[in-house]
Amino acid sequence: MGLLKLTTTALAFLAATVNAVDIVVKSKGGNETSSIPYGLMHEDINNAGDGGLYAELIRNRAFQGSKLYPVSLDGWKSINGAGLSIKNLSTPLSKALPSSMNVVVNSTKSKSVGFSNDGFWGMDVRMEKYTGSFYVRGSYKGAFTASLQSALTNETFGSVKVDSKTKQNEWVQHKFTLVPKKDAPSSNNTFAITFDPAGVSGGSLDFNLISLFPPTYKGRENGLREDLAEAFAALDPKFLRFPGGNALEGPDLANPWKWNETIGPLKDRPGRPGVWNYQTSDGLGLVEYLHWCDDMDLEPILAIYSGLALDGAYINETDLAPWIEDALNEIEFVRGAPSTPMGKLRASLGYPKPWTLKYVEVGNEDWLAGRPAGFESYLAYRFQAFNKAIKKKYPDIQVIASPSVFDNMKIPAPAAGDYHPYRQPDNFYNEFHKFDSLTKDNLTLVGEFASVHPNGGIDWSGNLHPFPWWIGGVGEAIFMISTERNGDRILGTTYAPVLRNMNRWQWSVCMIEFEADTKKTTLSTSYHVFQLISTHAITHTLPTTPSSNTSSLFFVAGKNEDDDSYVWKGANYNTTNHEATPVSVKFEGLRKGQKAELTLLVSSQGPFGYNDPAKGNNVVVTTTKTLSAGENGAFKFNMPELSVAVLDTDVGGYGRKEKRVERRYPPVLNGKAVERKR
Ligand SMILES: *[C@@H]1O[C@H](CO)[C@@H](O)[C@H](O)[C@H]1NC(C)=O
Ligand SMILES: *[C@@H]1O[C@H](CO)[C@@H](O)[C@H](O)[C@H]1NC(C)=O
Ligand SMILES: *[C@@H]1O[C@H](CO)[C@@H](O)[C@H](O)[C@H]1NC(C)=O
Ligand SMILES: *[C@@H]1O[C@H](CO)[C@@H](O)[C@H](O)[C@H]1NC(C)=O
Ligand SMILES: *[C@@H]1O[C@H](CO)[C@@H](O)[C@H](O)[C@H]1NC(C)=O
Ligand SMILES: *[C@@H]1O[C@H](CO)[C@@H](O)[C@H](O)[C@H]1NC(C)=O
Ligand SMILES: *[C@@H]1O[C@H](CO)[C@@H](O)[C@H](O)[C@H]1NC(C)=O
Ligand SMILES: *[C@@H]1O[C@H](CO)[C@@H](O)[C@H](O)[C@H]1NC(C)=O
Ligand SMILES: *[C@@H]1O[C@H](CO)[C@@H](O)[C@H](O)[C@H]1NC(C)=O
Ligand SMILES: *[C@@H]1O[C@H](CO)[C@@H](O)[C@H](O)[C@H]1NC(C)=O
Repeated sequence: MGLLKLTTTALAFLAATVNAVDIVVKSKGGNETSSIPYGLMHEDINNAGDGGLYAELIRNRAFQGSKLYPVSLDGWKSINGAGLSIKNLSTPLSKALPSSMNVVVNSTKSKSVGFSNDGFWGMDVRMEKYTGSFYVRGSYKGAFTASLQSALTNETFGSVKVDSKTKQNEWVQHKFTLVPKKDAPSSNNTFAITFDPAGVSGGSLDFNLISLFPPTYKGRENGLREDLAEAFAALDPKFLRFPGGNALEGPDLANPWKWNETIGPLKDRPGRPGVWNYQTSDGLGLVEYLHWCDDMDLEPILAIYSGLALDGAYINETDLAPWIEDALNEIEFVRGAPSTPMGKLRASLGYPKPWTLKYVEVGNEDWLAGRPAGFESYLAYRFQAFNKAIKKKYPDIQVIASPSVFDNMKIPAPAAGDYHPYRQPDNFYNEFHKFDSLTKDNLTLVGEFASVHPNGGIDWSGNLHPFPWWIGGVGEAIFMISTERNGDRILGTTYAPVLRNMNRWQWSVCMIEFEADTKKTTLSTSYHVFQLISTHAITHTLPTTPSSNTSSLFFVAGKNEDDDSYVWKGANYNTTNHEATPVSVKFEGLRKGQKAELTLLVSSQGPFGYNDPAKGNNVVVTTTKTLSAGENGAFKFNMPELSVAVLDTDVGGYGRKEKRVERRYPPVLNGKAVERKR
């Protein structure tokens, strides 16, 4: 009995010693990392643009449609018996917006008739300034009333009278601002425009481009939804890859993303059939993406159309020239001097100053749609043709091919590739060393990545996980560490897709879930993991012993030369007997007593815990501790199974960064009531 007890104790001791990890971080060696290690990617999926980051509150504001998604009165309802119908008038508002809404006032019994809009499944109504406008054609003497009201009780939260400036045969724009007198108790609200039928001559009025914006991120006109933009800014991102994604390719050859139809006044933007089952307005267009870059200090990674549609059709070699010209025009529009033709067009829209553009990606996932023929055409002539033309005119631009060396493309340096792993967490664990073999000539962007399938073999035929989940996030941390260790050859890394409107979505695993109600914005487990890793920059990696991982622990170390701090990032996967791993990190050259801040993330609900927008919970438990280097200069701490940690000698650095960014929303929302500072 006594002997047995002794043996068990000895074994437990032995096990603990075996699992402990002693890491030494050298003070010299290593590599300078990319200056854009982590970023954002925008794809109009899940109403991420319209009804999402694009702050417009009115759904179907300009009756845009296409063969795929016919024009309709979706979102609109009549008030007091007004007759609503779609008309393609012989004098439309614009060439881009041929359809409008005709409102018949056949009864003068009611003092007020009109219409309301449901918004993108509700509207957040608060005591703040809303900016609106609408076009009317017809003759009306009197005032319009624009109001925000409850869809449940019809209670009016705020309204404003807008004097009619109508003229019989002209489209006349009416503008207004509106500040509700109270916050609505829920987001079940509508926006209405009403008017007195007695003032209408001719029996009806025509309306188009009916728009309403709440305050936007950094106060931009036609700007971004504030809480979502602030959640992005809190990731301290360095680049934005846009406009897609599949959205760039379009559903067929007739409907690619056309940059020149997304610029200028909203009335000149026709919108387009998206590839995710809805029409998009293109209110969030090329200039708005560049403003987004300006406002978050992001390097634009502009993806240009490469002649492949999502249905697999592609442009033949003999027909490619106009598309190359179009791409060069787009680049010139962004960065050309105002004296160039496209720079002049930009200046005419109010933007004389060229934007900086250093990264251009040729297409999106050209290895995928219509393969093998679509990919073969990319390898045979499409990539070369674009690459050659861009390098000739803009030798300083870093061209990125949309496949990567891992998709069987030999990418001619100095061009980079783009790798999109959508994986099981175990895949990220098993492929930790994947990037180690990249040479300086294999520069690779990770333009999209995520854990999407649970471990255990369900592949693309199976469903995606319903939400980002904890072990998925730990797998993503291992992956991010694997990119950062190779940060001299990995250009940048971004999760995708980032946004999911819970009222209409096509892809379930997204960094942030949201709906009209800003209180329901949910930062997923993957958001928390990404944020911890992305907000502690390493500008220069440092060699370590052991070099990168032991059986369960994966790590990277380096220096942040901007604030002269040392940083270590680690992710602990499955451990033996689910035991915590004792870790010791010694930075050569740091003395005893040196302070470092340890931030540790674990799940309160095990590997399958997730943040559920319906519950407003957060399973991610974050602990922050200040550690002191011990006798031998080492920081010691325990990492539980399935945990992610960052050790940073810039103590309080993260908090300082937070304070620098002025926020109206707190950085962590997760279902808790959003208090706004005023
Ligand atoms: C530095 O980069 C080289 C290849 O470019 C790689 O072999 C080496 O492991 C890297 N060192 C560190 C510490 O990241
Ligand atoms: C007014 O006319 C429209 C058709 O133009 C009809 O749909 C609507 O019901 C009518 N309303 C009333 C109150 O008669
Ligand atoms: C009206 O215009 C829309 C585009 O806004 C078009 O799709 C539709 O076919 C047109 N309808 C008619 C009857 O011309
Ligand atoms: C709200 O107004 C609409 C349209 O005027 C009407 O049909 C509805 O009955 C009203 N609802 C309530 C709860 O008053
Ligand atoms: C109010 O809106 C929410 C979505 O935000 C929806 O789930 C709910 O059913 C709505 N309530 C009513 C009574 O319509
Ligand atoms: C490309 O050429 C082939 C063969 O000539 C032809 O069948 C095909 O329709 C062409 N594709 C396009 C998009 O023009
Ligand atoms: C956009 O560019 C394409 C191709 O360069 C051209 O065919 C089209 O007319 C342009 N559209 C507008 C609205 O200028
Ligand atoms: C990396 O680049 C080198 C040099 O261009 C090339 O030979 C090699 O095939 C590339 N690696 C991969 C995995 O394609
Ligand atoms: C490091 O991780 C890889 C999986 O990515 C694994 O194959 C290898 O055995 C690990 N190394 C050690 C020392 O555990
Ligand atoms: C890690 O544990 C999970 C269960 O939590 C399991 O699904 C997965 O396959 C394990 N992975 C490895 C590499 O051991």
